[in-house]
Amino acid sequence: MQLAHRPTDGWAENSSSGSVVLDTRNLSKVYGRGKQRFEAVQQVSLTLRQGEVLAFLGPNGAGKTTTIKMIAGLVRPTQGQITVAGEDPHRQPRALRHIGAVLEGNRNLYWRLTPEENLEYFGVLRQVPRKVAHRRGLELLARFGLEEKRQTPVQKLSRGMQQKVAIAVALIHNPKLLLLDEPTLGLDVEASEMVKALVRQIAQEGRAVLLTTHQLDVAEELSDRVAIIRRGRIIAEQSTEALLREFSSSTTYHLEVEGDLSPQQIHTVTQLGATVQGRQITYAGTPEHLYGLLGALSPVPLVSVQRDRADLTQVFLKLVNDHSDSSHAHD
Ligand SMILES: Nc1ncnc2c1ncn2[C@@H]1O[C@H](COP(=O)(O)OP(=O)(O)O)[C@@H](O)[C@H]1O
Ligand SMILES: [Mg+2]
Repeated sequence: MQLAHRPTDGWAENSSSGSVVLDTRNLSKVYGRGKQRFEAVQQVSLTLRQGEVLAFLGPNGAGKTTTIKMIAGLVRPTQGQITVAGEDPHRQPRALRHIGAVLEGNRNLYWRLTPEENLEYFGVLRQVPRKVAHRRGLELLARFGLEEKRQTPVQKLSRGMQQKVAIAVALIHNPKLLLLDEPTLGLDVEASEMVKALVRQIAQEGRAVLLTTHQLDVAEELSDRVAIIRRGRIIAEQSTEALLREFSSSTTYHLEVEGDLSPQQIHTVTQLGATVQGRQITYAGTPEHLYGLLGALSPVPLVSVQRDRADLTQVFLKLVNDHSDSSHAHD
């Protein structure tokens, strides 16, 4: 898939790189009153720049959807501020032109309408001139590989295609911020991969993407940064890379060779601390010492060398467990 895409409507080229698109300050949401009072989101501050993908990660009920709905202008915050491209979606309705959103269960589509009709309809609703909405709709459908389905009612499309149409609709007014609530939930592997590639592409054209997920692999593959929320509070926020690095105590390498190792080689490699299983060698050590190991394998051809990092599942579980807070009534 072609990743570089030049936006046709131009805002991305004109704005300075890395400008702040989303800023939330101490965002809080209290549902109910008295005994029913429940703080679903507490003091959430997030910043998101152009071209960045932030994965908002947390267990079910942590407050992800509530936060995203507040940013989208759909749920009024009890406290705190939100600005999107400098405008407050709760005070300045025109801030909504900067925001595209796909909420849980892609309800932003009319199931009896075709993708083409949905795009035009929602474009007009978002104050895009009909002609522009039509042209842009066709561009998006082409880009998303949906040209042939453009006149098929949405209800007849596969789940993955529906999700792509939903994302296209969210982009029809060329927003600077794309909010995706659980974008790969319920999709099969192939459809998930498609959606992930699309999200990457959307960020590469300069949009800021905030996605919520409780699928750690999605966060790991897509995000530049991760914010982990638990019981309404952010308990970690860092670049995905740094978070993983911080938690990977030692690096494990998986090597594969093309021929059989001699008994002498197996001996040397084992001495270096690696384990040999047939043509697979596993080695936990520093990158520097890896060269010694590679030397010992010579001249048997190498098929692959892979580095195994800590994965987000481990990081996540560790963080969530370290922050256990028994004084809280809800979980
Ligand atoms: N409209 C509402 N009224 C009362 N409680 C709600 C409402 N919406 C969500 N909640 C509660 O707020 C908490 C956070 O929910 P949500 O933001 O949907 O979490 P997540 O998306 O992380 O699963 C949950 O405990 C949920 O039950
Ligand atoms: Mg949710």
